Amino acid sequence: MIPAAALLAWYDRHRRRLPWRSLPGERPDPYRVWLSEIMLQQTTVVAVVPYYETFLARFPTVAALAAAPEEEVMRAWAGLGYYARARNLHACAKVVAARGDFPRDVDALRALPGIGPYTAAAVAAIAFDVPAVPVDGNVERVVARLFAITDPLPGSKPAIAAGAARLGTDPDAQARPSDFAQALFDLGATICTPTTPACALCPWRAGCAGQRAGIAAELPRKAPK
Ligand code: ADE
Repeated sequence: MIPAAALLAWYDRHRRRLPWRSLPGERPDPYRVWLSEIMLQQTTVVAVVPYYETFLARFPTVAALAAAPEEEVMRAWAGLGYYARARNLHACAKVVAARGDFPRDVDALRALPGIGPYTAAAVAAIAFDVPAVPVDGNVERVVARLFAITDPLPGSKPAIAAGAARLGTDPDAQARPSDFAQALFDLGATICTPTTPACALCPWRAGCAGQRAGIAAELPRKAPK
């Protein structure tokens, strides 16, 4: 068993302060969480931060975004790329504004424009404390290393998803789904990094099969294209 408590204790000390995160103990605004997750889909945290703040100042609520002309939304998005994201963002805002709020469960979120399985899990967990574990590239890396999953991506995706789901069954993870999801992101971004992971600083070092086998930095393997 990989103890969620160790990761959560690490997160309580080392969490990144990011503009879409609420203060400890406060519930986050689902609109802000959703907006950040759409922006972060194909763009790094560092690139997203300035756009996120400008965009949020211009469209402070989902109702404001829904009511804005399409051209204005596209203009505020300019520079982030992948413009289908902006069109879906606007379409999603209209649906959410019409129904009054964001749905709280993974399947209902998944049905909205621009929201795939990853984003549905991320918004449900982070905004609503639904016990879902969102699996992005960072989380795939952490899980592949923890369980020493040596089969290459993309074939290993189901095994990695199963490993991530298993981590999420720990009662300590279930007690804090929002923090657990964000702790996984932070571990992947700051400790369990792609080329030279800082295993000596890792709260999960003791249970990490990849580290024990001396292959953490090589994982996840990728199938040749
Ligand atoms: N990557 C994707 N979602 C993120 C989040 N909420 N915080 C940090 N990194 C992320």
